[in-house]
Amino acid sequence: MTAILSVRKLEKTFGSVVAARDISLDIPAQQTVGIIGANGAGKTTFINMITGYLRPSLGTIWFEDRDITGRSSRQITRLGISRSFQVAQIFSSLTVMENICAAAAIARGPRGALAHAWRPLLSADTVGEARAAAELFQIGAYRDIRAATLPQGVRKLLDIAMAVVGWPRLLLLDEPTSGISIEEKFSLMDVVMTALKSRNITVLFVEHDMEIVSRFADRVLAFYDGTVIADGAPAQALADTRVRTFISGTRTVPEAVAGAG
Ligand SMILES: Nc1ncnc2c1ncn2[C@@H]1O[C@H](COP(=O)(O)OP(=O)(O)OP(=O)(O)O)[C@@H](O)[C@H]1O
Ligand SMILES: [Mg+2]
Repeated sequence: MTAILSVRKLEKTFGSVVAARDISLDIPAQQTVGIIGANGAGKTTFINMITGYLRPSLGTIWFEDRDITGRSSRQITRLGISRSFQVAQIFSSLTVMENICAAAAIARGPRGALAHAWRPLLSADTVGEARAAAELFQIGAYRDIRAATLPQGVRKLLDIAMAVVGWPRLLLLDEPTSGISIEEKFSLMDVVMTALKSRNITVLFVEHDMEIVSRFADRVLAFYDGTVIADGAPAQALADTRVRTFISGTRTVPEAVAGAG
């Protein structure tokens, strides 16, 4: 199995705060990896380092055959890694299609000046790519609706559609179901994962809902205090004593204690 992503001894400190420590792992191509961990455990920091939004204090990051440690987010995107943020990064005043076209134009644009990237905004290629992405994420019906008025689930799908127009091979999703109701989460993730699988994209997604993680991840990375405390198949990782104690909160309370209250 060839690793698409390999990190070694990754560390990130902010003054006295250690947000990532001694993280070493390999992600095989086309794996779907769920990242879990309590607030402040270092999940976003990990994603930020891989995508070039933060420079690691120590350690190395390899993507395919390249050392990408310390490269800019723009360079990393061009190499084939894309992401979404905890809060959807879309232009509220633009329609769904305009948003995807803008993302497609930026992904296709020449290096450097954003002005150049905007020029082919409505080229036939850009529009074709944007339409395909809208269909893939099942938001074609909303194409002429302004993003400001979209239901939250559609905003999330739009955000992820915009992240895949550049045909990334690795995609990192930071809490794709945040702000979505329990009832809607599964159908949203079904659409997202089906779309990503059809393009053979390797996915790392941060998720707080353990049922979603169990349903959609092939593998779970459990973060605690900046490091990975469990790494394995969902059933195995979620059963880990430390994961149950520090993250999923499902540790069985001994009956004597439970009955005492
Ligand atoms: N730019 C920064 N400057 C200083 N400290 C930071 C910075 N970014 C993150 N941290 C700290 O690093 C630690 C990890 O934060 P991070 O955002 O990675 O956590 P997280 O697991 O994504 O949490 P959440 O579930 O709340 O999104 C926290 O203690 C946080 O306060
Ligand atoms: Mg986070």
